[in-house]
Amino acid sequence: MEVVVRPDVDAAVDLVARLIAARIEAKPDLVIGLATGRTMERVYDRLVALGPSFRRVCSFNLDEYVGLAPDDPQSYRSYMRQHLFDRVDIDLANARLPEVDGPDLKEVARRYEADIAAAGGVDLQLLGIGETGHIGFNEPLSALMSRTRDKTLTQDTRRQNAAMFGGDPDRVPSRALTMGVGTILDAREVLLLATGEHKAHIVAKAIEGPITSMVTASALQLHPNCKVVLDEAAAEALQ
Ligand code: F6R
Repeated sequence: MEVVVRPDVDAAVDLVARLIAARIEAKPDLVIGLATGRTMERVYDRLVALGPSFRRVCSFNLDEYVGLAPDDPQSYRSYMRQHLFDRVDIDLANARLPEVDGPDLKEVARRYEADIAAAGGVDLQLLGIGETGHIGFNEPLSALMSRTRDKTLTQDTRRQNAAMFGGDPDRVPSRALTMGVGTILDAREVLLLATGEHKAHIVAKAIEGPITSMVTASALQLHPNCKVVLDEAAAEALQ
Protein backbone atom coordinates (compact mmCIF):
# COMPACT_ATOMS: atom_id res chain seq x y z
CA MET A 1 0.00 0.00 0.00
CA GLU A 2 1.39 3.39 -0.98
CA VAL A 3 0.28 6.34 1.13
CA VAL A 4 0.54 9.84 -0.34
CA VAL A 5 -0.17 12.88 1.83
CA ARG A 6 -0.98 16.19 0.18
CA PRO A 7 -1.04 19.51 2.04
CA ASP A 8 -4.77 20.16 1.66
CA VAL A 9 -7.99 18.79 0.26
CA ASP A 10 -7.66 20.56 -3.10
CA ALA A 11 -4.22 19.06 -3.70
CA ALA A 12 -5.42 15.57 -2.67
CA VAL A 13 -8.47 15.79 -4.94
CA ASP A 14 -6.36 17.10 -7.81
CA LEU A 15 -3.92 14.20 -7.52
CA VAL A 16 -6.73 11.62 -7.58
CA ALA A 17 -8.50 13.25 -10.53
CA ARG A 18 -5.23 13.46 -12.48
CA LEU A 19 -4.48 9.80 -11.81
CA ILE A 20 -7.91 8.79 -13.12
CA ALA A 21 -7.55 11.01 -16.19
CA ALA A 22 -4.09 9.52 -16.88
CA ARG A 23 -5.44 5.97 -16.66
CA ILE A 24 -8.24 6.82 -19.12
CA GLU A 25 -5.74 8.43 -21.47
CA ALA A 26 -3.52 5.35 -21.34
CA LYS A 27 -6.49 2.98 -21.82
CA PRO A 28 -9.52 4.70 -23.38
CA ASP A 29 -11.68 1.62 -22.75
CA LEU A 30 -10.79 1.56 -19.04
CA VAL A 31 -13.10 -0.37 -16.73
CA ILE A 32 -13.44 1.86 -13.69
CA GLY A 33 -15.11 1.19 -10.37
CA LEU A 34 -16.76 4.34 -9.04
CA ALA A 35 -17.74 5.56 -5.58
CA THR A 36 -20.22 8.14 -4.34
CA GLY A 37 -20.29 10.33 -1.22
CA ARG A 38 -19.25 13.86 -0.41
CA THR A 39 -15.52 13.23 -0.90
CA MET A 40 -16.10 12.11 -4.49
CA GLU A 41 -18.13 15.18 -5.46
CA ARG A 42 -14.94 17.23 -5.63
CA VAL A 43 -13.09 14.48 -7.50
CA TYR A 44 -15.78 14.40 -10.20
CA ASP A 45 -15.78 18.22 -10.46
CA ARG A 46 -12.02 18.18 -10.99
CA LEU A 47 -12.17 15.23 -13.39
CA VAL A 48 -14.82 16.94 -15.52
CA ALA A 49 -12.60 20.03 -15.66
CA LEU A 50 -9.60 17.94 -16.75
CA GLY A 51 -11.76 16.68 -19.61
CA PRO A 52 -10.75 13.08 -20.43
CA SER A 53 -13.08 11.34 -22.87
CA PHE A 54 -15.31 8.69 -21.29
CA ARG A 55 -16.64 7.62 -24.71
CA ARG A 56 -15.24 4.08 -24.42
CA VAL A 57 -15.03 3.89 -20.63
CA CYS A 58 -17.10 1.30 -18.83
CA SER A 59 -17.99 1.97 -15.18
CA PHE A 60 -19.38 -0.05 -12.29
CA ASN A 61 -20.48 1.76 -9.17
CA LEU A 62 -19.74 0.20 -5.81
CA ASP A 63 -23.22 0.32 -4.41
CA GLU A 64 -26.83 1.45 -4.54
CA TYR A 65 -29.45 1.95 -1.83
CA VAL A 66 -32.21 -0.63 -1.70
CA GLY A 67 -35.75 0.72 -1.61
CA LEU A 68 -35.35 3.86 -3.73
CA ALA A 69 -36.54 4.14 -7.34
CA PRO A 70 -33.60 4.59 -9.78
CA ASP A 71 -34.80 8.11 -10.58
CA ASP A 72 -35.18 9.04 -6.90
CA PRO A 73 -32.98 12.15 -6.44
CA GLN A 74 -31.31 10.42 -3.48
CA SER A 75 -30.39 7.28 -5.41
CA TYR A 76 -26.76 6.80 -6.29
CA ARG A 77 -27.75 6.62 -9.97
CA SER A 78 -29.10 10.18 -9.67
CA TYR A 79 -25.96 11.20 -7.78
CA MET A 80 -23.75 9.81 -10.56
CA ARG A 81 -25.76 11.51 -13.30
CA GLN A 82 -25.59 14.82 -11.48
CA HIS A 83 -21.90 14.71 -10.57
CA LEU A 84 -20.37 12.83 -13.49
CA PHE A 85 -22.37 10.97 -16.13
CA ASP A 86 -24.37 13.93 -17.45
CA ARG A 87 -21.21 16.05 -17.62
CA VAL A 88 -19.02 13.72 -19.69
CA ASP A 89 -19.43 11.76 -22.91
CA ILE A 90 -19.93 8.37 -21.26
CA ASP A 91 -22.38 5.98 -22.95
CA LEU A 92 -25.02 5.49 -20.23
CA ALA A 93 -25.40 1.86 -21.31
CA ASN A 94 -21.82 1.36 -20.08
CA ALA A 95 -22.35 3.20 -16.78
CA ARG A 96 -23.61 0.53 -14.43
CA LEU A 97 -24.99 0.54 -10.92
CA PRO A 98 -26.69 -2.40 -9.22
CA GLU A 99 -30.31 -2.40 -10.44
CA VAL A 100 -31.99 -2.94 -7.12
CA ASP A 101 -35.61 -2.41 -8.13
CA GLY A 102 -36.15 -6.11 -9.00
CA PRO A 103 -37.59 -8.55 -6.45
CA ASP A 104 -34.59 -10.88 -6.37
CA LEU A 105 -31.55 -9.11 -4.95
CA LYS A 106 -29.45 -12.27 -4.94
CA GLU A 107 -29.95 -12.52 -8.70
CA VAL A 108 -29.13 -8.82 -9.16
CA ALA A 109 -25.92 -9.33 -7.17
CA ARG A 110 -24.98 -12.45 -9.12
CA ARG A 111 -25.57 -10.65 -12.41
CA TYR A 112 -23.52 -7.63 -11.30
CA GLU A 113 -20.54 -9.86 -10.57
CA ALA A 114 -21.02 -11.60 -13.93
CA ASP A 115 -21.20 -8.25 -15.75
CA ILE A 116 -17.96 -7.08 -14.12
CA ALA A 117 -16.28 -10.33 -15.15
CA ALA A 118 -17.66 -10.06 -18.70
CA ALA A 119 -16.21 -6.54 -18.96
CA GLY A 120 -12.80 -8.03 -18.16
CA GLY A 121 -12.69 -7.05 -14.48
CA VAL A 122 -12.11 -3.62 -12.95
CA ASP A 123 -8.88 -1.90 -14.00
CA LEU A 124 -9.09 0.94 -11.48
CA GLN A 125 -11.31 1.02 -8.41
CA LEU A 126 -11.95 4.41 -6.81
CA LEU A 127 -12.83 4.34 -3.10
CA GLY A 128 -13.75 6.58 -0.21
CA ILE A 129 -13.85 5.38 3.38
CA GLY A 130 -16.74 5.63 5.82
CA GLU A 131 -16.29 6.51 9.47
CA THR A 132 -17.06 2.87 10.33
CA GLY A 133 -14.10 1.89 8.14
CA HIS A 134 -16.32 0.64 5.35
CA ILE A 135 -15.36 0.54 1.68
CA GLY A 136 -18.40 0.37 -0.54
CA PHE A 137 -21.05 -0.44 2.06
CA ASN A 138 -19.04 -3.25 3.61
CA GLU A 139 -19.84 -2.46 7.19
CA PRO A 140 -17.93 -3.93 10.15
CA LEU A 141 -18.05 -7.74 10.22
CA SER A 142 -18.28 -8.06 6.43
CA ALA A 143 -16.24 -11.06 5.38
CA LEU A 144 -13.00 -10.04 3.71
CA MET A 145 -13.77 -12.42 0.85
CA SER A 146 -17.37 -11.22 0.45
CA ARG A 147 -18.89 -10.69 -2.99
CA THR A 148 -21.67 -8.37 -4.17
CA ARG A 149 -24.72 -8.73 -1.91
CA ASP A 150 -27.20 -6.70 0.09
CA LYS A 151 -26.06 -5.34 3.44
CA THR A 152 -27.80 -3.68 6.35
CA LEU A 153 -26.30 -0.25 7.03
CA THR A 154 -25.17 0.62 10.55
CA GLN A 155 -26.82 3.48 12.42
CA ASP A 156 -23.48 5.31 12.26
CA THR A 157 -23.46 5.12 8.46
CA ARG A 158 -27.10 6.23 8.25
CA ARG A 159 -26.21 9.20 10.47
CA GLN A 160 -23.13 9.94 8.34
CA ASN A 161 -25.25 9.99 5.16
CA ALA A 162 -28.27 11.79 6.65
CA ALA A 163 -27.35 15.16 5.13
CA MET A 164 -28.51 13.87 1.73
CA PHE A 165 -31.87 12.93 3.30
CA GLY A 166 -32.82 16.23 4.90
CA GLY A 167 -30.65 15.52 7.94
CA ASP A 168 -32.85 12.65 9.17
CA PRO A 169 -30.97 9.31 9.60
CA ASP A 170 -34.31 7.45 9.66
CA ARG A 171 -34.95 8.52 6.06
CA VAL A 172 -31.67 6.94 4.91
CA PRO A 173 -32.47 3.49 3.50
CA SER A 174 -31.46 0.73 5.90
CA ARG A 175 -30.03 -1.53 3.19
CA ALA A 176 -27.82 -1.28 0.15
CA LEU A 177 -26.51 -3.61 -2.51
CA THR A 178 -22.73 -3.38 -2.48
CA MET A 179 -19.73 -4.96 -4.14
CA GLY A 180 -18.05 -7.19 -1.57
CA VAL A 181 -14.60 -6.70 -0.09
CA GLY A 182 -13.43 -9.61 -2.25
CA THR A 183 -14.95 -7.99 -5.33
CA ILE A 184 -13.07 -4.76 -4.57
CA LEU A 185 -9.79 -6.59 -3.95
CA ASP A 186 -10.08 -8.17 -7.42
CA ALA A 187 -9.55 -4.76 -9.08
CA ARG A 188 -6.14 -4.48 -10.72
CA GLU A 189 -5.52 -1.09 -9.10
CA VAL A 190 -7.17 0.61 -6.13
CA LEU A 191 -7.19 4.32 -5.36
CA LEU A 192 -8.64 5.47 -2.03
CA LEU A 193 -9.15 9.12 -1.12
CA ALA A 194 -9.86 10.36 2.41
CA THR A 195 -9.89 13.96 3.52
CA GLY A 196 -10.66 15.84 6.72
CA GLU A 197 -9.84 15.31 10.38
CA HIS A 198 -13.05 13.35 10.98
CA LYS A 199 -11.49 10.54 8.93
CA ALA A 200 -8.07 10.57 10.67
CA HIS A 201 -8.86 7.94 13.30
CA ILE A 202 -10.36 5.38 10.92
CA VAL A 203 -7.69 6.02 8.28
CA ALA A 204 -4.98 5.16 10.83
CA LYS A 205 -6.81 1.95 11.75
CA ALA A 206 -7.23 0.99 8.09
CA ILE A 207 -3.60 1.63 7.17
CA GLU A 208 -1.70 0.73 10.34
CA GLY A 209 -4.07 -1.46 12.30
CA PRO A 210 -4.57 -5.20 12.06
CA ILE A 211 -6.36 -6.58 9.00
CA THR A 212 -9.82 -7.19 10.35
CA SER A 213 -13.40 -7.48 9.18
CA MET A 214 -14.20 -4.84 11.85
CA VAL A 215 -12.51 -2.28 9.53
CA THR A 216 -13.06 -3.56 6.03
CA ALA A 217 -10.74 -0.93 4.51
CA SER A 218 -7.86 -2.68 6.33
CA ALA A 219 -8.20 -5.47 3.73
CA LEU A 220 -6.59 -3.07 1.25
CA GLN A 221 -3.28 -3.77 3.02
CA LEU A 222 -3.43 -7.08 1.15
CA HIS A 223 -3.79 -5.46 -2.27
CA PRO A 224 -0.62 -5.43 -4.39
CA ASN A 225 -1.41 -2.15 -6.16
CA CYS A 226 -3.24 0.21 -3.82
CA LYS A 227 -2.63 3.92 -3.41
CA VAL A 228 -4.17 5.89 -0.53
CA VAL A 229 -4.30 9.66 -1.01
CA LEU A 230 -4.86 11.81 2.09
CA ASP A 231 -4.84 15.46 2.98
CA GLU A 232 -2.82 16.40 6.08
CA ALA A 233 -5.91 16.42 8.27
CA ALA A 234 -6.86 12.84 7.39
CA ALA A 235 -3.23 11.74 7.89
CA GLU A 236 -2.98 13.28 11.35
CA ALA A 237 -3.29 10.04 13.36
CA LEU A 238 -0.73 8.05 11.33
CA GLN A 239 2.39 7.03 13.26
C1 F6R B 1 -20.37 5.15 -1.50
C2 F6R B 1 -19.25 4.49 -0.85
C3 F6R B 1 -18.88 4.80 0.56
C4 F6R B 1 -18.28 6.21 0.72
C5 F6R B 1 -17.96 6.48 2.19
C6 F6R B 1 -17.39 7.86 2.41
O1 F6R B 1 -20.47 4.72 -2.84
O2 F6R B 1 -18.64 3.69 -1.46
O3 F6R B 1 -17.97 3.83 1.00
O4 F6R B 1 -17.11 6.30 -0.04
O5 F6R B 1 -19.12 6.32 2.96
O6 F6R B 1 -18.38 8.81 2.17
P1 F6R B 1 -18.08 10.38 2.27
O7 F6R B 1 -17.16 10.70 1.16
O8 F6R B 1 -19.43 11.02 2.12
O9 F6R B 1 -17.45 10.61 3.61
